[in-house]
Amino acid sequence: MVLKNKHIVLGITGSIAAYKAASLARLLIKEGAEVQIVITPSGKEFITPVTLSALTGKAVVSEFFTANDGTWHSHVDLGLWADMMVVAPATAATIGKMANGIADNMLITTYMSMKAPVLVAPAMDLDMFAHPSTTRNLDILRSYGNVIIEPASGELASHLIGKGRMEEPENIVKSIKEYFEKRDSLSKKKILITAGPTYEKIDPVRFIGNYSSGKMGFALAEECANRGAEVVLIAGPVSLSCKHPNISRINVESADEMYEAATANFKDVDAAILCAAVADFRPVEASDKKIKRQGDNLTLTLVPNKDIAARLGEMKQEHQKMIGFALETNDEERNATDKLRRKNLDYIVLNSLNDAGAGFKVDTNKISILDRSGNRVDFQLKPKAEVAKDIIDTTLL
Ligand code: C5P
Repeated sequence: MVLKNKHIVLGITGSIAAYKAASLARLLIKEGAEVQIVITPSGKEFITPVTLSALTGKAVVSEFFTANDGTWHSHVDLGLWADMMVVAPATAATIGKMANGIADNMLITTYMSMKAPVLVAPAMDLDMFAHPSTTRNLDILRSYGNVIIEPASGELASHLIGKGRMEEPENIVKSIKEYFEKRDSLSKKKILITAGPTYEKIDPVRFIGNYSSGKMGFALAEECANRGAEVVLIAGPVSLSCKHPNISRINVESADEMYEAATANFKDVDAAILCAAVADFRPVEASDKKIKRQGDNLTLTLVPNKDIAARLGEMKQEHQKMIGFALETNDEERNATDKLRRKNLDYIVLNSLNDAGAGFKVDTNKISILDRSGNRVDFQLKPKAEVAKDIIDTTLL
């Protein structure tokens, strides 16, 4: 019972679908959850707090203060208490306030104080749902990491037919359970991730580098950690920070240093995701003094770096999975498949510089994932945090 003893704040707003929130509360309690209801003033016009508190066994919270006795309801305490907040039904008005921080009622202040994940189940008439402001506000909520439970299509309270019906309580419970199952899907796993560029020293002030920002690797590290994994993140020189306490970060500069760190840490991991853009060559030796301008041309002799992925591919045990990346400019699929075999990878993530919005520096990526049996899955252009989820769902679960 994944919901046993979970603390769920159920936010109810002023939609006719509020009557279904009573069933939702009941189903959550049946699954073993503790439910605290926070309702907006217009939500109370659709369903009475008495019905809801009788179901949950807890007084319904609606106003900042309880009339007459001066009791203050702390949205901050609720934010800390909750394992999840579910806003169902969520009206266009509430979605707009959540997106824009208009904290004029207890539900929105609770939302803004929430430390836990937030799921939102919109409910409104089809034209309101199709309005560009709703689309934009839902996109904003997604960018905050909130999960939108898409409304269903069908007959609406107005008798019009279209998209906007709040998803049925049984399906909302299913989404909540899936969220928790997914969140814990990598618990007890240890994952090594390489990220960012490497710098290959020419002299004390110059290096050979590349445009990798490390964003994709850091997004993968955050997502693995969010799902309960212990992450060893080996990062080249990047200006990113990671927040999750389950991530141990090892900073390196050159491909050689990354090789040492990766081979030293590979033995006891369950999977390695090799996302770093490792330099293939380095100057044969780094000058210890700044190289002065002399003559017309300067010739640098480069020697190959060790291939980290290929070495880990040799060390790989039966239970370990390895995922590599390929950024190709031509013959994409053939080059990626070659790499997959040569480096003994289980999967290779292909991103192409030919796709606008994909690859280095940008916050989005468009990928395909190839496996050893020749299967290929293509994904849309998405923010890197979403791409990280696709990669993990496809390769690690
Ligand atoms: O051969 P190429 O560099 O394109 O291969 C890309 C894949 O190999 C990536 O997963 C990258 O992190 C990894 N790689 C590596 N060590 C190298 C070069 C690439 O781990 N020296």
